[in-house]
Amino acid sequence: SNHKTIAIDGPAGAGKSTVARMVAQKLGLLYIDTGAMYRAITLKALREGIRTDNPAALTELAGRTNVELVAGSKQQVIMDGEDVTEAVRYPEVCLNVSKIAQISGVRAILVEQQRRLAEKSGVVMDGRDIGTVVLPRANYKFFLTASPEERARRRASELATKGYTIDIEKLTREIQERDYTDSHRAVSPLVPAADAIVIDSSGLGIESVVNMMIDLVEKDK
Ligand code: C5P
Repeated sequence: SNHKTIAIDGPAGAGKSTVARMVAQKLGLLYIDTGAMYRAITLKALREGIRTDNPAALTELAGRTNVELVAGSKQQVIMDGEDVTEAVRYPEVCLNVSKIAQISGVRAILVEQQRRLAEKSGVVMDGRDIGTVVLPRANYKFFLTASPEERARRRASELATKGYTIDIEKLTREIQERDYTDSHRAVSPLVPAADAIVIDSSGLGIESVVNMMIDLVEKDK
């Protein structure tokens, strides 16, 4: 297709979603948070009591679940008509999502939906496998990282604003576990695409990361 596509991958808490949303807004592209799709499937599996070690049932569940991402100042996540924007951030979902994201049947279903979204319009898509698997021919690929400590700090302040009490050490451990699972899984592990631009945002503000990306994209016009 002729639409502009920008892939932003990286580990949890690197600032991907904030950066991706801002880049999309500045360039007039649609922002798609693919993590929210895995989270919605996870939420539904938890509600139905389907175990994370049951790939057949989870793949079947993914096939009969409709996840919609509604653009706005804050992207809304709609699952089977229900607004689950808040619910997909529950600690219980965070703890289980990486297990469900390892299942190749679940991934195949979501990857196809993600590709279809990118055919309809220009997108900034964030996730783990966007540059490697979902949109290997994206116009721009970024891999955004930050040190685990920095990422835990960011997640903590994000959660604190939502009223959660945070144990920073526990959070760091959970982030490291999720990174490990995401990076070592057999299907679509979290790795930078060979042609991705790697940005370590540890010492950088969100604005400077956004500007770096915009500059690169605009330079080409
Ligand atoms: O980005 P976010 O932290 O919301 O993603 C939640 C989880 O969903 C990740 O830890 C990962 O296991 C999974 N995920 C994935 N592939 C994507 C996006 C998210 O496996 N493209």
